[in-house]
Amino acid sequence: MPARIPVLPVAALFFLCLAAGVRAQDYDNDEAIQPPPKAQDSCNGVFLTYNFISRTKEFPHVKNTSAQSWAFKAQATILNTMMYELEDWSIFIGFQHQEILVSVGGAVITDGTDFPAHVGNGTTLSGYPQTDLLTSIETAGDMSQIQVVVDITGTQFGVKAPDTPMPHTIKLENPGYKCPAVTKKSHVVVVVVVAETQMFVCCVKDPKFKPNKTDTHHFLPRRYGDLTFAYDVLQSYDSNYMAQVTIDIHSPLGRLDNWNLTWEWKRGEFIYNMRGAYTLRKDGSDCLYGKAAKYYQDFDFSKVMNCETKPTIVDLPPERSKDKDIGNLPYCCKNGTLLPPIMDPPQSKAIFQVQVYKLPPDLNRTAFYPPTNWKIHGVLNADYVCGPPFRVSPMKFPDPSGLMSESEAIASWQVVCNVTRPKKHASRCCVSYSAFYNDSVIPCDTCACGCDDSKSCNHDGRALLLPPEALLVPTENRTAKAKAWAKIKHYHLPQQLPCPDNCGVSINWHIMSNFGKGWTARITLFNWEDYNFKDWFVALEMDKAYLGYEKAYSFNSTKLIGPGAINKTFFLQGLEGLNYLISEAEGKNPETDPRVPGKQQSVISFTKKETPGIDIVKGGGFPTRVYFNGEECALPERIPRAFAVHQHSTVSPLVVMLLAAVVALILILD
Ligand SMILES: *[C@@H]1O[C@H](CO)[C@@H](O)[C@H](O)[C@H]1NC(C)=O
Ligand SMILES: *[C@@H]1O[C@H](CO)[C@@H](O)[C@H](O)[C@H]1NC(C)=O
Ligand SMILES: *[C@@H]1O[C@H](CO)[C@@H](O)[C@H](O)[C@H]1NC(C)=O
Ligand SMILES: *[C@@H]1O[C@H](CO)[C@@H](O)[C@H](O)[C@H]1NC(C)=O
Ligand SMILES: *[C@@H]1O[C@H](CO)[C@@H](O)[C@H](O)[C@H]1NC(C)=O
Ligand SMILES: *[C@@H]1O[C@H](CO)[C@@H](O)[C@H](O)[C@H]1NC(C)=O
Ligand SMILES: *[C@@H]1O[C@H](CO)[C@@H](O)[C@H](O)[C@H]1NC(C)=O
Ligand SMILES: *[C@@H]1O[C@H](CO)[C@@H](O)[C@H](O)[C@H]1NC(C)=O
Ligand SMILES: *[C@@H]1O[C@H](CO)[C@@H](O)[C@H](O)[C@H]1NC(C)=O
Ligand SMILES: *[C@@H]1O[C@H](CO)[C@@H](O)[C@H](O)[C@H]1NC(C)=O
Ligand SMILES: *[C@@H]1O[C@H](CO)[C@@H](O)[C@H](O)[C@H]1NC(C)=O
Repeated sequence: MPARIPVLPVAALFFLCLAAGVRAQDYDNDEAIQPPPKAQDSCNGVFLTYNFISRTKEFPHVKNTSAQSWAFKAQATILNTMMYELEDWSIFIGFQHQEILVSVGGAVITDGTDFPAHVGNGTTLSGYPQTDLLTSIETAGDMSQIQVVVDITGTQFGVKAPDTPMPHTIKLENPGYKCPAVTKKSHVVVVVVVAETQMFVCCVKDPKFKPNKTDTHHFLPRRYGDLTFAYDVLQSYDSNYMAQVTIDIHSPLGRLDNWNLTWEWKRGEFIYNMRGAYTLRKDGSDCLYGKAAKYYQDFDFSKVMNCETKPTIVDLPPERSKDKDIGNLPYCCKNGTLLPPIMDPPQSKAIFQVQVYKLPPDLNRTAFYPPTNWKIHGVLNADYVCGPPFRVSPMKFPDPSGLMSESEAIASWQVVCNVTRPKKHASRCCVSYSAFYNDSVIPCDTCACGCDDSKSCNHDGRALLLPPEALLVPTENRTAKAKAWAKIKHYHLPQQLPCPDNCGVSINWHIMSNFGKGWTARITLFNWEDYNFKDWFVALEMDKAYLGYEKAYSFNSTKLIGPGAINKTFFLQGLEGLNYLISEAEGKNPETDPRVPGKQQSVISFTKKETPGIDIVKGGGFPTRVYFNGEECALPERIPRAFAVHQHSTVSPLVVMLLAAVVALILILD
């Protein structure tokens, strides 16, 4: 039911018509889109418009206007009015009313977000399937080739006058273009009420922009990302093609364990066969009841690997790497493990091949549409967010014959993915702090890795200080210790106790000593999962102390070199033979002893020569960011406090080294 404009006094309406920028609150504008603005005719660039079409109240109907949801329809157009082609267009729409997009025709959300997509902070759309806009000249003004119309439907929330249900801006995101401020235009909506329902802008080529000349003009340059996919078509027939997918980790902190990959076929394709990886579901029956069976009438679908629109692809185990039928590819078959390049370069790459069958109207040796919405996940790894595939220059491969010639892919696309920082209460690892000058441990934050909805504990309460030995027992056995400690130390004990951290991996950072010339810390990793971490790594960003970093006694450590914060980070991994962080296990006597976490520990020494004036106790000795297997861990909100008297320990470097030796010995004996 479209809601109608309340009948206003004529005088008020008259005022509305006159006052610029005054907008009506509700719309009943079902008849079509406004004609293109005149400014389009004088644009020599890329002309963008956003037309608000209509909206209707959604259930539930509420009195509070700002909480009312509305279903809205809008349309964006991208028109190329230049002499040049616009390749791989992408536009930003500055939504601002808690919009939730439900469908977008003619485009995809650039970062691959699925619908319904919360875009209240604005979003970028890219062309799909029409990624390029030709010129008027080459097409004799064929609008279908020089313009894309993007139909948008979604929900938006209550718009009170004088706000409008419009985005605040639109602009072209392609590099090398400049967009002035948008022009907003009001239209008569109901009789004499005007409302702002259209905005447009003419973006022009920036004459000063120097494009990167490394690639021929038709392709986009390859981009850097924490992880990239290459989708290279190596063989092509009318009805099917073979693509090779290469996964590369570039970030020094990137990592995946037991990866699974999903993507989405948009044009009815199905996977006939794969090599170097497989789909979790092997079943051609989806095809039998779909469009594929109508076209491929005599096809034996029992041999088809997968007909899902969104298949899940996983890696083969190493045993299959020499299998002539399904393996036998370089870099294949690692059981889903990808390590950062600094740990082991060949382990940072994976390859698999996929035989894809197409449906009409794409039965043409040169018609390819790579799958979209790429998503890759690993067990206890950081989350990666991937952009859409974009066309790049054909990949060159060394010829398999071993001769000097190079072979070239028929067509290549790249998908770029970046690691995202975990949201609050959604980490997978956490850090606790302790120090020689304070006998309490600052535990991991409450719900650092999430909490269920149970009301039995306080989700926001501050974690209780612990006695050091409490770090060694599982959460369920910690509460008693924390309560006893609070009693001894006269700490405040709240009525409702805070929830535990719920992390599978926790890391303790302990300041061990602080003397005139240097200081030492001890890092301990705890594994509370029933999962062994092979080839684990930890990276520590220490903004203040990095320059003074000397060595880790029982871990293999490397200083990272790279842009920004990477340059303040060092990388720790197990020495050969000690590169396992084993799973939690039963205590020695399960009847009475609590369960025991897997542990790894090392002392790290720092000098103060390079970092004069560093104040360890005031925070200089605590990490700025901590990563475990590429996932950023939650850090506590406070640090152990000291009374001034205790600031310097009398521990000499010799004692530290002795301690380190003892730690190493204990680990070996374990
Ligand atoms: C109306 O809804 C908004 C958003 O849901 C909320 O912030 C606001 O407090 C509500 N106002 C009233 C009067 O209920
Ligand atoms: C928009 O940005 C704000 C502030 O950065 C953030 O809190 C909010 O979650 C964002 N909303 C969406 C829908 O991404
Ligand atoms: C061109 O690309 C190369 C490699 O991707 C990069 O090193 C260079 O800085 C780029 N040049 C410009 C002008 O963007
Ligand atoms: C491969 O990964 C699976 C878990 O996905 C695990 O059960 C299996 O032991 C692993 N195999 C090897 C050889 O590491
Ligand atoms: C430490 O790690 C580097 C890089 O992964 C490796 O080359 C080196 O052999 C390792 N050293 C030891 C002692 O394990
Ligand atoms: C295949 O595509 C090319 C280029 O798009 C076109 O010239 C050709 O006519 C198409 N062939 C068929 C059989 O449709
Ligand atoms: C893919 O892996 C992630 C992380 O391990 C897991 O949550 C998800 O369920 C997996 N998906 C499938 C389809 O197995
Ligand atoms: C990934 O990060 C790089 C820079 O670090 C940026 O240029 C690129 O646009 C990002 N890609 C995505 C998909 O977020
Ligand atoms: C540890 O907690 C578990 C679960 O609450 C309990 O069954 C066990 O008895 C506790 N162990 C000790 C030593 O307190
Ligand atoms: C990283 O730091 C080193 C010196 O510590 C410096 O030479 C190098 O230029 C820095 N690199 C970047 C990318 O900031
Ligand atoms: C230890 O540090 C905590 C947190 O900063 C503080 O609340 C406590 O009073 C400190 N204890 C001593 C003995 O200084």
